[in-house]
Amino acid sequence: MRQSLKDREHLLRMLALLVAAIAVFLFVRSIAVPKDYGRFGPFRASALDDIAAMPVVFAGHSACEECHSDVVEARQGSKHTQIHCEICHGPAAAHAADPTASKPARPDGRELCLNCHVINVARPADFPQINPREHGDEGPCTACHPHHHPEP
Ligand code: HEC
Ligand code: HEC
Ligand code: HEC
Ligand code: HEC
Repeated sequence: MRQSLKDREHLLRMLALLVAAIAVFLFVRSIAVPKDYGRFGPFRASALDDIAAMPVVFAGHSACEECHSDVVEARQGSKHTQIHCEICHGPAAAHAADPTASKPARPDGRELCLNCHVINVARPADFPQINPREHGDEGPCTACHPHHHPEP
């Protein structure tokens, strides 16, 4: 018995090191982790207030459609009706709140279209895709495809 506990000092040192490491970990953690972390889940509870305080940048398509009934009419029957205004025109809440204060972008009638329609193996095979070297010419796609009703 005596013999086997002879070297227990090694074990006690190891134990002391372990306790010290845990103490340092708990100390650093108490400083680094925000106070309200974990109240609702594995995130900082006040992050919800931070996000709610961000300005609203999208107005939603129904706001646009109230004023731009001519565009709604132009888009009727097009497969593009499933694409809402701000996807092409960018966030426009400021414009919807006061149309004279700011104007949404007038997207480029070639760059914009190619974003979605350039041939790409990653797209579903039945999605309409074109090779811009073979289809149309160098000019804007909107020369042949009306921008709010692109089906020829
Ligand atoms: C309160 C009415 C109103 C709402 C809501 C509204 N617009 Fe407008 N919009 C206008 C008016 C008026 C003009 C013309 C402004 C001018 O030419 O001075 C305009 C112009 C535009 C233009 C043309 C800009 C240019 O350079 O000629 C675009 C694009 C546009 N709106 C998109 C949108 C989109 C997208 C939305 C929804 C997020 C929207 N509008 C919501 C009234 C509105
Ligand atoms: C697929 C992309 C796309 C979508 C979706 C789209 N637009 Fe446009 N819009 C364009 C392009 C491209 C132009 C033309 C820019 C140019 O050549 O001056 C344009 C022009 C406009 C203009 C300027 C006047 C005109 O008719 O040319 C207004 C206003 C406008 N869009 C409003 C809207 C509204 C409102 C919606 C939703 C109901 C909408 N757009 C949806 C691409 C789009
Ligand atoms: C945000 C992506 C997006 C943008 C930008 C976009 N399109 Fe489309 N386009 C679509 C989707 C989605 C469809 C419907 C596909 C379907 O239903 O199979 C479509 C359908 C079409 C069709 C009908 C194809 C057919 O099979 O009948 C044409 C033509 C077309 N787009 C041309 C254009 C042109 C020209 C522009 C630029 C002014 C443009 N698109 C911009 C997503 C986009
Ligand atoms: C010179 C006129 C012309 C130009 C410019 C043009 N197109 Fe077309 N496009 C057509 C015609 C006509 C069709 C229908 C016949 C066909 O499928 O080839 C068509 C069909 C399409 C289709 C449907 C293809 C399918 O598989 O259903 C898409 C998508 C399209 N064009 C996108 C574009 C884009 C994007 C651009 C610009 C890079 C563009 N087009 C430029 C004339 C044109």
